[in-house]
Amino acid sequence: AADHDCKGVPMSHIIGSQSPWGAPEFPLIQPGFDHAVLYHIPGSGTQLDRPPKPQIGKEKWDHEHVRMPFSKHSLYPVPNDAGKSDLRSRWEMIKDALNKPIRNSTELEEAILSYNTQFKDRWHFQALHKLFDTLDEEESQYFFDVTLPEIVKLALALPKLIQSPIPLLKQHKNRSVSLSQQQISSLLANAFFCTFPRRNTYKKDAEYSKYPHINFNVLYNTKPSSDVLEKLKCICHYFRRVCQKVPVGVLTFARRSVAPRAQPHWPASDRPLSTLPLHVDPENTIEDAHGLIQVDFANKFLGGGVLGYGSVQEEIRFVICPELLISMLFTECLRPNEALMMIGCEQFSTYTGYGHSFQWAGDFADETPYDSSGRRRCAVLAIDAMPFHSKLQEYRKEAVNRELNKAWVGFSFYTPDDPGPHYPGVATGNWGCGAFGGTAALKTLIQMMALTQAGRPMAYYTFGDTALRDSMVQVYNLLVKHGVTVGGLYGLILEFCKTDVLKTNVYRFLEKVLDGAESSNNSQSVKTK
Ligand code: AR6
Repeated sequence: AADHDCKGVPMSHIIGSQSPWGAPEFPLIQPGFDHAVLYHIPGSGTQLDRPPKPQIGKEKWDHEHVRMPFSKHSLYPVPNDAGKSDLRSRWEMIKDALNKPIRNSTELEEAILSYNTQFKDRWHFQALHKLFDTLDEEESQYFFDVTLPEIVKLALALPKLIQSPIPLLKQHKNRSVSLSQQQISSLLANAFFCTFPRRNTYKKDAEYSKYPHINFNVLYNTKPSSDVLEKLKCICHYFRRVCQKVPVGVLTFARRSVAPRAQPHWPASDRPLSTLPLHVDPENTIEDAHGLIQVDFANKFLGGGVLGYGSVQEEIRFVICPELLISMLFTECLRPNEALMMIGCEQFSTYTGYGHSFQWAGDFADETPYDSSGRRRCAVLAIDAMPFHSKLQEYRKEAVNRELNKAWVGFSFYTPDDPGPHYPGVATGNWGCGAFGGTAALKTLIQMMALTQAGRPMAYYTFGDTALRDSMVQVYNLLVKHGVTVGGLYGLILEFCKTDVLKTNVYRFLEKVLDGAESSNNSQSVKTK
């Protein structure tokens, strides 16, 4: 096959129809005890001519909800003349600081520090300063003259735009939150100005120690390598766009948590791998897999290093689709049996490169259609692999179980009960095999098993690796030829784990056991003749 050729079944078998948008929609957005909808759904149904209005509710300042920067409970100590300190409304301080003219990055730093005084000596803003040093004069001027005042307005509009409490998506709970793109832009504008209270200390017992960072100071404070500056450019571009034209769609963030007893009993699964439609693409990337559920190779702290070091798959995805960043505001770190589905994000930027060579490459006009609830038909599924430092660690029963269950919890999100192929299929790839050090041979098999069990087709993006494309299709064909079931493959993998895993590869092992068994049977039968 040529280097860019796909293998396996054609894409139409993965998407279930000729059009990527032919698959059934995800459940409609409906407010309920387990689904908080932060905007008002008009009685006449979804309207896309203007952004939805905020839902009105009662403010909450507690452990179950995001503590909003404008809450009357958010107070800040300010030194007084008597050498003591008075408590002042933090939102008033934020308004004061942001309503003053901000003409350059030094003034931006001063503004942010004026309501974060205890970090004066610890936040250095070197990446922010470097960005504006490297931009040409005109671009920089435009940002401070035009874009920044708009970001300020957007940030200060938060109390108008969000009028009901945002529940935290906590561990062990199946819960969803839906917000409008406009609401998200205002929340992100607040993250840009580092206004979220209680989100700057991550000591062990801090209230939010199990949540990702959200205030952008972490990114500003990162050593300004080129990819860090490029991430900032993506974020600034996003603000430029949403300030020019308010987006009208909405997004849903849904957490799934499956109790261990409700997970599949892997050794007993009799689903044959032949029921899994498999398409392998060596050329394209996951974010271009229109209409499929796109896997985010996540960190259990959503976003991973997006607001700091690192520009690999998850970080890149979060800066080209910055609305995903808002998951970091309310998603407690994922447990082994949990996944997060994010539906409706829009892509605003294009990029080139990867890792250190990552670069913002300009505007992206996203033409993805909306679903009946007003979400872009784009679903990003966050599942975090385990970081491995050696094959010995990775090829253990507990580790195999952990990865299988994690993948299955994600892949079976929103699958109907009836058997048969469930659409949309899943676009995945070398999950856990980059920064997290896993091996593709094992991870491809684990994901095939989890998808077979979930009944969803697989589109696998090898990221340029044609050898992997060829070998995984070969092994898949072998499994199909021998009628191997999920439970059967599980047993074989555990058998492999008991061998000298450093010496051979699990694909070779399967070939030897399956085909070898056949050829030795043959030779035996030849002998007996
Ligand atoms: N499409 C398809 N395949 C890709 C793409 C893409 N857009 N990008 C990368 N790959 P990695 P991990 C392939 O290292 O090992 C982050 O910091 C490519 O072969 O991002 O699960 C998270 O926050 C790459 O080597 O995922 C976590 O902390 C491989 O996928 C951590 O990294 C793995 O990509 C997760 O690490």
